[in-house]
Amino acid sequence: MTAPFLFADELDVKGKRVLLRLDLNVPVQDGKVSEDTRIRRILPGLKDMLAAGAAVIILTHFGRPKGKVMPEFSVQPIADCMAKLIGKRVTIESDVIGAGGKTAAAGLKSGQILMMENLRFFPGEEANDADFAAALAALGDIYVGDAFSCTHRAHASVEALPKMMKAAAGRALGAELTALESALANPKRPVAALVGGAKVSTKLDVLNNLVTKVDGLILGGGMANTFLLAKGFSIGASLAEPDMVDIASAIIKRAEESNCKLILPDDALVAGEFKAGAAHRIASIDTIEDGDMILDAGPKSIASAIAFLATCSTVVWNGPMGAFEIPPFDTATNAIAKAVGIRSAGGSMMSVAGGGDTLAALANAGVSDQFSYISTAGGAFLEWLEGKTLPGVEALRIN
Ligand code: 3PG
Ligand code: MG
Repeated sequence: MTAPFLFADELDVKGKRVLLRLDLNVPVQDGKVSEDTRIRRILPGLKDMLAAGAAVIILTHFGRPKGKVMPEFSVQPIADCMAKLIGKRVTIESDVIGAGGKTAAAGLKSGQILMMENLRFFPGEEANDADFAAALAALGDIYVGDAFSCTHRAHASVEALPKMMKAAAGRALGAELTALESALANPKRPVAALVGGAKVSTKLDVLNNLVTKVDGLILGGGMANTFLLAKGFSIGASLAEPDMVDIASAIIKRAEESNCKLILPDDALVAGEFKAGAAHRIASIDTIEDGDMILDAGPKSIASAIAFLATCSTVVWNGPMGAFEIPPFDTATNAIAKAVGIRSAGGSMMSVAGGGDTLAALANAGVSDQFSYISTAGGAFLEWLEGKTLPGVEALRIN
């Protein structure tokens, strides 16, 4: 049995210096945060922690500066954004593991926030270096991990550090784990998975894990074409990975053995070029011609996906169902997203979605608010879907 967690909300943080690991790796454009979901998600937990009397030292990474100080990857824009959202000063400390860091941490008072400069400026962070982690540990009394979206990285502030000191799981991370577990570990059945995106090769482990766990797997996007090839259909000029056909066949077989219904498109929107508004037609999947590119699922496929989803109580979603960036090839993604959104908002379905493209697609369909849970994680969500353990989650368990 896996060990339970201590949750940050159970701690008495009054007068304590809390090392709060967040994932504030957010999009920044022209020196300003352009998308602040990850910051907003952790705000309620942070506010309550400050109100309860904690002095909070925020640890995060930003971008991939690879162990070097690169001013363009300073946390400054993130601190500015957080200060605005929380209505408090957020001081930045650059001398993270030196005398400056020690003095700043020691002088921090209850209710104040100190943000350490980008941890990836230090080679010890990505190396999961014990000395670097120990230097961080010396700055605080308690560690709180609230960075679900980087728990797939075994880095010093994510893995080594919480093992060295009293550690608890933050509120947002707890909510994320609860949502994910209710979707796959202990779901209300039937469970459907929607997996799309361009390539089978990038989601091989996801597919292999899901077919053994879910009752139905609906495939879309470019990766569905490789499965159509495996089934012997011609796909014309469509995107596919011919060298993955044997693997696709093995997944089809594994799905059959596991009683997982594999749902592939049986019609498509095809065009001669990959362009918004390109001339297109609806084609049955056995009538794809040489120059045709499959850019979206067709109306019959959409209807059968929605009909299957109507029988399900749980759905997990990763990857768009078609070329959703270029209308009208966003039709299947939008229609299916709306159907899931309505059932979720009405309480008859639990829906969990994650991954950068997926979130953009759901926002595009205008249904983000209707889903039961939207993960802020890309890589960590995928690794969780693969059935892997996440080092940053394991490190938080009570030992
Ligand atoms: C993310 O944004 O996916 C996480 O912050 C991890 O970042 P990384 O992919 O650079 O490790
Ligand atoms: Mg990533």
